[in-house]
Amino acid sequence: MAEHDENVVWHPHPVTREQREQLHGHRGVVLWFTGLSGSGKSTVAGALEQALHQLGVSTYLLDGDNVRHGLCSDLGFSDDDRRENIRRVGEVASLMVDAGLVVLTAFISPHRAEREMVRERVGDGRFYEIFVDTPLAICESRDPKGLYRKARAGELRNFTGIDAVYEAPLQPEIHLDGEQLVTNLVARLLDLLRSDDIIKS
Ligand code: ADX
Repeated sequence: MAEHDENVVWHPHPVTREQREQLHGHRGVVLWFTGLSGSGKSTVAGALEQALHQLGVSTYLLDGDNVRHGLCSDLGFSDDDRRENIRRVGEVASLMVDAGLVVLTAFISPHRAEREMVRERVGDGRFYEIFVDTPLAICESRDPKGLYRKARAGELRNFTGIDAVYEAPLQPEIHLDGEQLVTNLVARLLDLLRSDDIIKS
């Protein structure tokens, strides 16, 4: 606990999450995409966000490659830095849920413990872990940024799946086959959001 914590008191504000949710016309939730680099997290999350936006849902997409240019630009890929990366993103996502948004996140988030930390922070029933399950060999053959090639050549250390761990989710809310067409995956996710009453239309 930081030294100043005892002097910082939570201030309750008059406008509540429930009121903000009412204004948006839907609940605030986090759709937490996890998977290897090149698994398709960002692609599927982006396509889902577009579909939701067209349905009038208030969304925001937090993406590892983008967040690491600003909010987390001081962090690398050691275990500690990844933990801090996910902690910060979890805090931001949690605030956005409080704002009543449907937040989509696309981070490798390789450690179960950190994903569970965010689940607890956001609260039960508002955190959907979505495992984009694409075999390493497929991710490596896609290699959109040429990073697997560099990792294999020893030019990039601590690369997830090569010389850094990826702990696959044990009980994700949604398990996606990352080799399926993106449109099929998006349709499945929209169905789930409807059946869980997160979106109405
Ligand atoms: S996480 O592990 O902390 O969740 P994050 O999702 O933010 O990672 O960033 C992953 C992206 O950073 C990858 O898609 C890839 O483009 C890039 N990257 C650069 N170095 C590494 C590395 N050592 N391991 C994994 N991804 C890396």
